Amino acid sequence: VPNVQDLAGRPDELAVTPTLLRRYVRAQPNTVDLRPDAPAGEEQEHVPVVDLRRLLGPDEDGLAGGRDEEAARLRSACEDWGFFQVVNHGIPEETLEEMKRSVMGFFALPLAEKAALAQEPGEIEGYGQAFVVSEEQTLDWADMFFLLTQPPSYRDLRLWPSKPSTFKNCLEKYCTEVQRVAGELLGAMAENLGVKDHASMTRLAAAQAVRMNYYPPCPEAHVDSVLGLSPHSDAVGLTLLLQVSQVPGLQIRRKGGWVPVAPLPGALVVNVGDVVEVSTNGRYRSVEHRAVVNAREERMSIATFHSGKFGTMYGPLEEVVGDEEPRYRSVSVEEYVKLVVSSKLDGKNIMDAMKI
Ligand code: SIN
Ligand code: FE2
Repeated sequence: VPNVQDLAGRPDELAVTPTLLRRYVRAQPNTVDLRPDAPAGEEQEHVPVVDLRRLLGPDEDGLAGGRDEEAARLRSACEDWGFFQVVNHGIPEETLEEMKRSVMGFFALPLAEKAALAQEPGEIEGYGQAFVVSEEQTLDWADMFFLLTQPPSYRDLRLWPSKPSTFKNCLEKYCTEVQRVAGELLGAMAENLGVKDHASMTRLAAAQAVRMNYYPPCPEAHVDSVLGLSPHSDAVGLTLLLQVSQVPGLQIRRKGGWVPVAPLPGALVVNVGDVVEVSTNGRYRSVEHRAVVNAREERMSIATFHSGKFGTMYGPLEEVVGDEEPRYRSVSVEEYVKLVVSSKLDGKNIMDAMKI
């Protein structure tokens, strides 16, 4: 699979050899289900915004029920949208900006330097492209760099870039802060769900991986039929995403169409992953999303995935299931990872494999 940044950097060649782009072009343009026929007067919906400081604040903070209001917002975001943006998360702006700069600096390195950290066959960590299942598969217009970050014992430090020189320190600081926020959000979800043992939710952020995505500008003629990232849901507990610039691209599946998630300065985009859907017996929804590309501007994003550590179990939580029937199976993290890989190879959704 070609390096996309390298391919996009050769516009003259692309112009004379249009077949180079054939594997990226979809039969269906990405604009078909953007709901241009939405009922007149129906406003464009926006992903909810959750204020973490209010969510965690004391009840009697003078904000007249600020905490309960925020908890209700979180609940409806998880049940109805599967997505929200979190503000007042307590991550210093410095940390976010340094992380963005480090990631921009990394992708700006010459190809040979990035290739030194290339993903080895059969490995998930390193620099490369999205998981490719078949020769015929349409490819995504993106390069990515994937690292396991938490717990520290899961790290392969040989893959942590030494250029830019700020990278390792920034990533360490950033991933620690983001893991804290993920844990706090999962704790608030446990509270909302009436789950007394918060650890049965917060353990879904015990492990963490970071995927940095780079979407080069895509030639104008193809921009509507190429995707940066194919539609998928996240096979993890909770994802927190930092959009590196104001260039939009993320879209989420909603009511049969796609809703863009406009970058909100200082915010992180949060989405419920498949494992939280399983844990809540389907009450919280893991929603499909994709990334579209842009003809003129590059786009970068930093996705931080949270999961349980090896050795823990995934399955519907008893307190949430109550008198209902469990809708999903219970499996160990190890079995779950195997299921994710094998359902990808079959082109199926992992959630079908988890359903009882
Ligand atoms: C993702 O789904 O992991 C990334 C989406 C994005 O780049 O906004
Ligand atoms: Fe995703």
